[in-house]
Amino acid sequence: MEVVISIAAGKRGKKNPWMEGNYGPVSEEVVEADLPVEGVLPRALDGAYVRNGPNPPHQPIGGHHWFDGDGMLHAVRIKDGKAAYSNAYVQTSRFKQEKKAGRPLIFRLGVMEGIPGLLFYLLQELKEKLGIVNTKDGTGSANTSVIFHDKQLLALVESDLPYVVRVNNDAHIETLERQTYGGHLQSPFTAHPKIDPATGELHGIGYSFHRPWMHYYVIGKGGNVKLDMDISLPDPVMMHDFAITEDYAVFMDFPLTIKDKDMVKGKPLLTFNKDRASRFGVLPKHSDDASKIRWFELPAMYAFHVANAWQEGNAIRLFACVYEKGINFESVSAPGDEEEACVTEIRLDLNSSQATSRRVADVHCEFPTIPDSLVGRKTRYTYVAMDERVDGVVNPRGLAKIDLAASSAQEVIAAKIGFGPGRIGGEAVFVPSSPDPSALKGEDDGYLATYVYDEAKNSSEFVVYDARSFSAEPVARVKLPQRVPFGFHGKHINAAQFQAQFPFDIHFLPDI
Ligand SMILES: [Fe+2]
Repeated sequence: MEVVISIAAGKRGKKNPWMEGNYGPVSEEVVEADLPVEGVLPRALDGAYVRNGPNPPHQPIGGHHWFDGDGMLHAVRIKDGKAAYSNAYVQTSRFKQEKKAGRPLIFRLGVMEGIPGLLFYLLQELKEKLGIVNTKDGTGSANTSVIFHDKQLLALVESDLPYVVRVNNDAHIETLERQTYGGHLQSPFTAHPKIDPATGELHGIGYSFHRPWMHYYVIGKGGNVKLDMDISLPDPVMMHDFAITEDYAVFMDFPLTIKDKDMVKGKPLLTFNKDRASRFGVLPKHSDDASKIRWFELPAMYAFHVANAWQEGNAIRLFACVYEKGINFESVSAPGDEEEACVTEIRLDLNSSQATSRRVADVHCEFPTIPDSLVGRKTRYTYVAMDERVDGVVNPRGLAKIDLAASSAQEVIAAKIGFGPGRIGGEAVFVPSSPDPSALKGEDDGYLATYVYDEAKNSSEFVVYDARSFSAEPVARVKLPQRVPFGFHGKHINAAQFQAQFPFDIHFLPDI
């Protein structure tokens, strides 16, 4: 039936850029030790770097979007200057069901357009009723990010609850379970939760196709759900990220609206509504009263990712990669022709209730990162992947160090690193030189870790740069046994966090 629908939609057999080149999937899951290291892997990197990304195991039946592939983790285990690599699918309920069937069973964003998209959606409802697909354990792909909270490494996608995963001594990756927090938390769960460095609490949001459209939650030690509150919005929207400060949670209600009924008219599921305001909601952390949210308005814009936010005087300063003209999801099955994003400050004045926005740096970028220890606190630098779109496809050719405290436009881009000709990277994760923030020489005393793909060699490297000097010469390069497809977000877990994955200190696999 899906095949008939996709032929009717004119998508059958069409080339899809998200399935081509290094956007295309790898077919092998490998574990390999004793990788060649050029330079020196600093002691601070002991632990593991893990990055998530989509890797469709089946040929798409209908349309396909970059966001649709099943989550595959790529890990580099590092110890005493040595490195091992492993990649593995997150064993989600969706992945396991579709592996058994040998084909996609659950609808994807890439098919959600027009009448054929609606038919796919209705077909899924029928499959649920007939017991052909099981949706009670979630239908998420766990393909977007990795975080570490409460001794657990979690693979996340914004449509489902987290999956607990673990990197073993030899880099081998395993999926342990779907984390339901004892059944005390509603799905969905954001791919960008914020862990308060002062309390260790996880703050998160989730948005939904169903009323009241979103919720805000706080999870403490032992997976204790301290708060889970519904928040109503004017429309259902795609809300990819949010922010916390010392005292507040800040929600970003951008006008990328979910309009499932408009699919009958041939429109896509997600529509950017340039006539609707962008709204920023400020709520005291832990408040369980949605009427206490103070909403601030600015013209229509969009941001997938927040760099950081903090309180300063009577204002909240929030920095994000903002698409000033919004984004184009007119055809979700092909790369969008969206405008590119720049680091932008959103300033919310708590006295006057006025919001203002200001472009900080004239560099097209995505995937902003900061040190974990400064989440919600004043930060001088954010590290971004400089994005050069080619036919709408994300194409990071280097990194930029953005000085958020710079007083002039000339100084705001503190430094740049190019990955080199024919080399494309992605998000760079900040790894501090020491796990003890008081031992650091400054907030940029650390390293940036990422995967870089070489087009000519069709191979990938794990590359580490010095965040302080921002020298284009890497501190270390590790040649990987297979290419790593372009993906989304990663995480470095240090030696103590790596060890904490094993509650009884039992390691079943030998170390590298
Ligand atoms: Fe993201």
